[in-house]
This record gives sequence, C-alpha cells and structure tokens, in this order.
Amino acid sequence: MKLLVVGSGGREHAVIRKLKENPKAEKIYCAPGNGGISADAECVPVKATDIEGMVSFAKGQGVDFVVVTPDDPLVLGMVDALHAAGIRTFGPDKAAAQIEGSKVFSKNLMKKYGIPTAAYEVFSDPKAAIAYIEQRGEYPVVIKADGLALGKGVIIAQNQTEAVDALHSIMEDRVFGASGSQVVVEEFLTGPEVSVLAFCDGETVVPMVSSMDHKRALDGDQGLNTGGMGTVAPNIHYTPEVAQTCMERIFRPTIDAMKAEGRPFSGCLYFGLMLTSKGPYVIEYNCRFGDPETQVVLPLLETDLLEIMLAISEKRLAETEVRFSKDSAACVILASGGYPVKYETGKQISGLDAEGQVPGATVYHAGTKRDGDSYLTAGGRVLGVTCTAPDGEQAVRAAYAAAENISFEGMHLRRDIGAKNR
Ligand code: AMP
Ligand code: GLY
Repeated sequence: MKLLVVGSGGREHAVIRKLKENPKAEKIYCAPGNGGISADAECVPVKATDIEGMVSFAKGQGVDFVVVTPDDPLVLGMVDALHAAGIRTFGPDKAAAQIEGSKVFSKNLMKKYGIPTAAYEVFSDPKAAIAYIEQRGEYPVVIKADGLALGKGVIIAQNQTEAVDALHSIMEDRVFGASGSQVVVEEFLTGPEVSVLAFCDGETVVPMVSSMDHKRALDGDQGLNTGGMGTVAPNIHYTPEVAQTCMERIFRPTIDAMKAEGRPFSGCLYFGLMLTSKGPYVIEYNCRFGDPETQVVLPLLETDLLEIMLAISEKRLAETEVRFSKDSAACVILASGGYPVKYETGKQISGLDAEGQVPGATVYHAGTKRDGDSYLTAGGRVLGVTCTAPDGEQAVRAAYAAAENISFEGMHLRRDIGAKNR
C-alpha cells in the first residue's frame, strides 16, 4: 500500500513510525513532514491545509490511504475532498470535525445530550458578554474563542479587568481572526486533567491508554500555555472506575450524539477531561490525535495501527483487536528558548545519534530541518524524547537520561514531567 500522512509534527512522526511496522506499508509519504520525518517517509512539499494540492498529489501517486492528522485540514474538509476523489482516509469529515472546529457546537451538543461539561453561555456581542460576567461576579471565569486558535483560544480570567481585556482582544481586535466572532463564557472547574484518545468508526468507540499532558511552558505549571511540553501514560488519576464512568457518561453518549446529529465521527476523538469532585467533565474535544499525547500513547499500542485505521475506514472497529501494553511511557519535549512566544530557529542539534544509548528511547522530530547529515531546529517544539519502561518513574527517568544526550543553543525543557503522576 501507498500511504500519505498529512502534517509535520512529533505526532505525525509517531504515527509514521507505527504505520511502518506493518509490512503492507510499502511506501509512506508525509506532507509536508519535517527533517526527522524524512528519515522514515518521503516528505513532499504540499502544505497541510492545501486541500486541492493534497488530492492531486494523492491521485497522481496512486496513494491508497491518507491519514489526515492536524485539526485545520480536518475542519476545512480535506477528508470530504479525498473521498470525493475516491481515496480512502483516516480522520473525520468536515461535519464531524466541528466537534473541535466550533466550541459553540460542542458545548451545545453536550448540553443537548446531557454530557457533563462546565456550565456556559454563548455570546456574539462583547458588551453582552461583559455584562454577563460582571453580573455573575465569580472569578476565575473561563473565556473561549469559538473556532480554532492554535491552542491559544482559552483564557482564564482572574478578575473583571482580565475578562474585559480578553473579550476585547478576541471579539474586537480579533487576535484569533474569525474564530472570535463568538465566545463561550464558562464556569471554572478544578481537578486533575486526563487526556483520552479514542478510536471511533461512527458506531464503536475504543479508548486508548490514558495520558497526562503538561501544557504550561515552565515547571510547576507556571508560564504560558503551549501545545504541550511533555506527556506520560497511563494517567494515574484514570482508575478503572473513572474509565467506566467516562465510557457510560461521556464516550458512548458522545459517539451516539454525533450519530444522532447526522455527523458520525470516524477517526481519533480526543477527550480532554477534568476529574472534578462531581465526576469527570469534558473540558474540550479535539477531532484528532493529541500532540504530544500521541508520542506516549502509540508506543504502547501492541496491535497494528494500520490494520486498526483500515478497519475504521470500513466500519469494522467492533471486530478489531486494540490492545495496549501494561508498560508506561514518558515524553519530554525539547523546545526552542522563548517558545511559545518568540524563538530563533536554525540551531545545530547535537547528540541525536546517541539516541540508541538509552534502551527503549525514541526521538520524534517535531520541528527540525535536515542539513546534510545533521539537523537544525525549525520550530518551537523541536523534539519529543520518549521512553517506555515497566513503570512510570522508570519511563520518566529514562526519557530524561535520553534527553540529556541532546543539545542545541537555547534548548528549553521542563524538568517535572510526570511529577504529578505518582
Ligand atoms: P483547551 O485549549 O481547550 O485545551 O484549554 C486549555 C486549558 O485551559 C485546559 O487544558 C484546562 O487546563 C484549562 N481549562 C479549559 N476550560 C476550563 C474550565 N472550564 N475550567 C478550568 N480550566 C479550564
Ligand atoms: N496536547 C494537546 C493537544 O493536542 O491539543
């Protein structure tokens, strides 16, 4: 088979490494990919959001199966366009991708079907939103831009001034563009956060091993929100009892709700959960694999990823074995100094060939560029160093030991990945 993976991050690298395990995967393309991915797949210069370009490349090369990984092409309808051209895919169509593409849509879906989520109101007029927040008078209050906002569309306002500033920048200055034409104002919840990725074929939902992201840039959950500075799996807070409650109250009802709305969800559905004193609540849905969650979840998958994806595309998930190892995994992100705000690129990366020194270590490339035989930094998140081990502490220790071998000018990493998972 000829496969095409759309995207260019550590998540895509982890997907490709896993797809490669199946001998059927004769040829793997990645569009656009990155320096490190080019060692595992043929990278092609088609932008992840270029729908026409992607369809014409896939047709031209006789690609059999396309895995659309990032949020923006999914929300733009790349899967629909590939289907129209007769090409098989993994990933939700445009109608189903709205579960991430519009927070107003997902909040209304949860309300309609009784899926636990923070209480909220929707506003398209900033004055009405401000009046509501003032009258409510409870802080912190959470403000979310409706549409995709590069993971930055959520603001936790500690007081009225911060709330007013947030609403001005989202709705009037439109810092996230059209994503800010509507906002969700919601109740602030507390409790441990859990990420659960789930395979879905529109009917059946099969949760993968749970994980824990570390979204803030600095140790102790300080600093700005990032795409994720590290992950561990499984998440210690996600006990078998919690898992059962989530299946009954959240996972199953979500899949049924999407089907009932005429938007059956096929692909990987990401449940961002908070375990509150009143039980598990949905903080957000993503219509795709999480990054860096995927970098700890897929290394623990024991059954074949390509077979699972093919089964999903044929609605055969119920008959397909999905099994995870009982081991643990940890991923430490090596980022450019200054990420997520301003950072320099083009720095020489050293120590990558030492990867093999730590048993069980894999280095996924997120933002790298090839320079002859070596690699240069080319993004905010540069590398994801993942280790698997029989227990969580060993996995974390091994990931840090492997990360120790690698360096580049200005390299930044958190030192406390997994500290809250004991
Ligand atoms: P998101 O971009 O939707 O992943 O949100 C970013 C982060 O904001 C989440 O991981 C949570 O830590 C936090 N967050 C979002 N919604 C709430 C909420 N209702 N209460 C408390 N924290 C929240
Ligand atoms: N790590 C969070 C996300 O992928 O959205």
